[in-house]
Amino acid sequence: MARKKVSVIGAGNVGAHTALWVAQKEIADVVLVDIMEGMPAGKALDMMEAAPVEGFDANISGSNDFKDIEGSDIVVITAGLARKPGMSRSDLVGKNTAILKSVIDEVVKYAPNAILIIVTNPLDIMVHIAWKLSGFPAERVIGMAGALDSSRLKAFMGMELGVSIENISAMVIGGHADSMVPLKRYSTVGGIPLPQLLPDDKIDALMQRTKTAGGEIVALLKTGSAYFAPSAASAEMVEAILKDKKKVMPCAVYCDGKYGLDGVYVGLPVILGAAGVEKIIEIELDEGEQAAFDNSVAAIRKLVGELTI
Ligand code: LAC
Repeated sequence: MARKKVSVIGAGNVGAHTALWVAQKEIADVVLVDIMEGMPAGKALDMMEAAPVEGFDANISGSNDFKDIEGSDIVVITAGLARKPGMSRSDLVGKNTAILKSVIDEVVKYAPNAILIIVTNPLDIMVHIAWKLSGFPAERVIGMAGALDSSRLKAFMGMELGVSIENISAMVIGGHADSMVPLKRYSTVGGIPLPQLLPDDKIDALMQRTKTAGGEIVALLKTGSAYFAPSAASAEMVEAILKDKKKVMPCAVYCDGKYGLDGVYVGLPVILGAAGVEKIIEIELDEGEQAAFDNSVAAIRKLVGELTI
């Protein structure tokens, strides 16, 4: 049986680490594509030379030619600029829209049946553009954000409570921006909702840290933004799809009807499987959660409304 094929566009830190996680877990063969001459080939070769140490069997190749993505089951798009200190994700919209447009043209040409996972920021806007320009059905154009944001919340819960991260489940919905909505009532430890384990002020601090977690890393790194957790979260989505795991996790998805929304990409809990987004799960939101979610959706709508694609 031939292995599945995943192409990762953009061989920067997020792209390269996504390629490595996917290969290391033997989920698929990986093609790493970047416009920078030689660079994706160099990183891919370097990873292949690590395979004997780690003992994984998967081919990783690098290319400057989009033709090599032909036949991909999944294309992960990470190409674009990352934030520097003082920038918000939305400051990247102009430059990254131009980059995304050129990438989508090539993806449509060479991998028309692939599922797209968009990682480029500002995430909710870029995934909307990718959906619109590709003409792909919405269940095949998915944004990576909730996987990362909920992983961050899980990490903070684990640090605070001193328990195994394997016991932790967390849910973050809304946009991939500081307006995101971590849901304490849907975040659990061994099945126990967080509000039964920590006082309100402690929970509020965890939620606030989650919202600004991307910025916390940008401020520490000074030269770019996070990549270990973003790439791991991207690989988690790849695995859920290629193994048809039917994994319940938040992703940026096109919501048309559910949650009273008409045609907007936003982070919501979904079932992720072989078909891509197989179902958007509607959860009950209380008044405060709904207000925070509405606020996050409004911020996305404003940015999408300003687009001229
Ligand atoms: C972050 C960037 C990848 O949240 O958006 O770290």
